[in-house]
Amino acid sequence: MKKIVLVTGAGSGIGRATALRLSREGHHLVIGGRREDRLAAVAEAIRNGGGSVDVRRLDVTDREDVAAFVDGAAEEHGRVDVLVGNAGVMPLSRLDSLLVEEWDRMIDVNIRGLLHGIAAALPHFQRQGEGHFVTIASIGAHQVVPTGAVYCATKYAAWAITEGLRQELDPGIRVTTVSPGVVESELAGTITDPGAREAMRTYRAAAIPPEAIADAVAFAIGQPPEVDVNELVVRPARQR
Ligand SMILES: NC(=O)c1ccc[n+]([C@@H]2O[C@H](COP(=O)([O-])OP(=O)(O)OC[C@H]3O[C@@H](n4cnc5c(N)ncnc54)[C@H](OP(=O)(O)O)[C@@H]3O)[C@@H](O)[C@H]2O)c1
Repeated sequence: MKKIVLVTGAGSGIGRATALRLSREGHHLVIGGRREDRLAAVAEAIRNGGGSVDVRRLDVTDREDVAAFVDGAAEEHGRVDVLVGNAGVMPLSRLDSLLVEEWDRMIDVNIRGLLHGIAAALPHFQRQGEGHFVTIASIGAHQVVPTGAVYCATKYAAWAITEGLRQELDPGIRVTTVSPGVVESELAGTITDPGAREAMRTYRAAAIPPEAIADAVAFAIGQPPEVDVNELVVRPARQR
């Protein structure tokens, strides 16, 4: 069945790969992010592949922006079926670097941004009696590493919020957390701390393509309505 699928942070990396993959499955995509040129390029690739897509500028830290993103899609298409909460930043650093503004940024994007999406989509899902939240968390939702204290905290929070949703919601609404290991993307580009940046060069050497995560999202969405894939952890085989 063709679904209306919303993806945040769809201009690059995992969000981009997920949007492209789901459009090939026949779903209509609504893609959001701050860099409109990047979204336009993704939309062009989707249309060239025969898919359909709407593009919306979106800052997930702005609650009204997220509400407009979700409500606009619901108005246009009469429903929303899937929200992939993917937008994220990862400016890693040791706590004693005191990059407090970067801590705030991670909290704002990775936690508040996710919550804004839930607040916007939940009323639609409840009215429809169905819907699907997909959260892109991280293996950082399962383990803490030096330089990752705040990032991992935001991903533990993303995991907890999504698991809480699963427990609270009616069975018609499905909930999936996908936790990637090291994936090729622009994510490490948000690191400003020189030590953390250097450490990541080795750590991120064995990365898998974002399509591997898109496959996991497609698998969860493609299950029959009575099957809820709650959690998938997808790492490079070489990652420990
Ligand atoms: N790559 C990995 O190794 C890895 C591992 C585990 C988890 N993850 C998670 O996967 C998700 C996607 O990351 P990625 O690896 O694909 O990195 P990426 O290429 O940097 O993608 C992140 C996306 O988030 C968007 N974004 C950032 N701040 C935003 C905001 N305020 N509002 C809206 N969109 C925003 C960015 O678009 P704009 O800048 O255009 O807004 C960007 O397209 C993140 O949640 C990340 O934590 C990644």
